[in-house]
Amino acid sequence: MKNLQEHRLLRELYHYKALGYSYFSDIKKPVIAIEQELDLPDSLEALELMCQQCSLCDLSKSRKNVVFGEGNPDAEIMFIGEGPGAVEDETGRPFIGKSGELLTKIIETTLEMKREDVYIANIVKCRPPLNRVPSKEEAQKCLPFLIKQIELVKPKIIITLGATSYQYLSGDYESAISKIRGEMIQFSRALLMPTFHPSFLLRNPSAKKYVFMDMKKVKAML
Ligand code: URA
Repeated sequence: MKNLQEHRLLRELYHYKALGYSYFSDIKKPVIAIEQELDLPDSLEALELMCQQCSLCDLSKSRKNVVFGEGNPDAEIMFIGEGPGAVEDETGRPFIGKSGELLTKIIETTLEMKREDVYIANIVKCRPPLNRVPSKEEAQKCLPFLIKQIELVKPKIIITLGATSYQYLSGDYESAISKIRGEMIQFSRALLMPTFHPSFLLRNPSAKKYVFMDMKKVKAML
C-alpha cells in the first residue's frame, strides 16, 4: 500500500516537473503581520476606496492618482509591476504607457487572452517621483493592500514583472532575476513566477524570447 502511494506521488511529481515546476521551499511573506494590523475590507471596491484615501507614505503627497489595479476580479493570472509611471499617475490605470502596450501585446499574443481577462497591479499604488524604485519602507506600507488584493482575486498564477516586484513580494533579495525568472514558486495558495519587466524588454528586445518561454509555461498550467 505504502509503495503504491509513493509510486503515485512520484508520478505526480514527475508530471509537475514536466510542466515546468521546480521545488522551492515556501517563500517568506514578510508583510502578513502588517496586514492584520490594518484590518482591511473584504471587497475590492472597499479596498480601492481605502487606497484612494491612503496617506501612509510620502508618495501620497506627490501622486495625482492612486493606481489601484484593474482587471478581472476572478482572474487566474495576476501581473504585478513595480509602481505607476507618469501616464499611469495621470490616468489612475496600471500599465498603459509604453511598457503597458508591450504587456498587453504579451498577454494577447503569448497567453492568447484579452487584457481584461487578467488582473494587473503594482507593488506600490502611487508614482515614485521621477520613476525611481520604490523604497523598502514605501513597499512595506503598500504591500498589505496588494496582499489583500491577491487574497480577494485568488489568482492561480502571479507573475511578477522585474526584479523589484519579485523581491518586494517574495522577500527573496538574493536571487538574480536572470536566474530565477521562469521558475514556479509556491506563494501562499498561488504559484508565483518572476519574469522580466516590459520596460527592460523595450531596452533589451533580445530578452523577449525568455518572456515568451515563461508565458508558454504559464499557459500550460492553466
Ligand atoms: N511600470 C510599472 O511597473 N507599472 C506600471 O503601472 C507602469 C509601468
